[in-house]
Amino acid sequence: MNTLLVIDDAWSASRALRAIEQGSRLLWQGDWHNGRQVVAAIKRRLRPGGTDFGTYRRQRARQAQAVNAVLVSLDSTDSIGARRAPDVRPACLEAYGEPTTDRLVALQELLGVIGAHQLRRRGVYVPALDARIHPHYGVFAPTRSEYVELVADAPLNGRTAFDVGTGTGVLAAVLARRGLAVTAADNNLRAVACARDNLARLGPAVDVVCADLFPPGRAELIVCNPPWIPARAISALDHAVYDEDSRMLSRFLAGARDHLEPGGEVWLILSDLAEHLGLRSRGELLELFERSGLKIAGRSDAVPTHPRAQAAREEPSADRGDSLAAARALEVTSLWRLR
Ligand SMILES: C[S@@+](CC[C@H](N)C(=O)[O-])C[C@H]1O[C@@H](n2cnc3c(N)ncnc32)[C@H](O)[C@@H]1O
Repeated sequence: MNTLLVIDDAWSASRALRAIEQGSRLLWQGDWHNGRQVVAAIKRRLRPGGTDFGTYRRQRARQAQAVNAVLVSLDSTDSIGARRAPDVRPACLEAYGEPTTDRLVALQELLGVIGAHQLRRRGVYVPALDARIHPHYGVFAPTRSEYVELVADAPLNGRTAFDVGTGTGVLAAVLARRGLAVTAADNNLRAVACARDNLARLGPAVDVVCADLFPPGRAELIVCNPPWIPARAISALDHAVYDEDSRMLSRFLAGARDHLEPGGEVWLILSDLAEHLGLRSRGELLELFERSGLKIAGRSDAVPTHPRAQAAREEPSADRGDSLAAARALEVTSLWRLR
């Protein structure tokens, strides 16, 4: 990718895609809404249809690369160099901090920044808390509630808990409301700031630290909802969902016993999506439990209720043909209790 072409409303999506495939990046200087349509059309044309997950991910990576080649300029006040562009200053401030210089940003990325700003303002209603959680840009949003319910309902022992990989802090909030003294940890600074915001609002108090996996010390309960899909992340924002080679999961299980008080419990939340995608077998998961020195004390299951899972279950014939949609139709989320 080396040539930068300035393009405008005279360019169709087909012409733009041809230029991208010949190695150009495109600086959109036309109408913002037309630019969005060009990007949406490129995205549609390169929509993944691979029936095995490897092919699907390669097609997704190619789609992301092409879509991200359409850029817009942002000046040093975060104003977009396109006609009828929205005011993205509050959204950019949240995602990038204070602007310092003119720069080029993928139009698609800005759409993500705008969407994240709206989601943060609106929040996600979490029935188990009867409250809204406000995700920050780049932090895993609890838009599916079934795993939160599992944590709200599991039988509780002990008084102290760690929430490893806390994200928005949603599970830490549930545990704190259940009366535990909670320390939450995440290695993503955006998540740490986000969890602190949410937990300060929701109460009771939770200590939130930036740590690779475990906070210092030991707890009687250690909860972790790791990224569920053992495959390489395509974008930085994918890291909360993709865990290449099950690295976080394996490291978490290998270290959990050293951070657990005697008689304590580990709660691992995991969907079996990876199994339906052929990325990790149940046997491999049980082998990781075995190697951790922990024994299974119980398991509770839930069927996801988020709209995409429901659509996949209700209308398998309307399945978009991609392997992820097919796997979603079969997915079950589990809370494994290990001792
Ligand atoms: C699937 S999200 C779960 C977030 C939240 N616990 C929830 O249930 O909504 C996984 C989280 O783990 C965090 N994470 C990934 N690797 C980590 C590590 N090595 N140490 C701490 N946190 C990590 C990610 O930043 C992300 O916030």
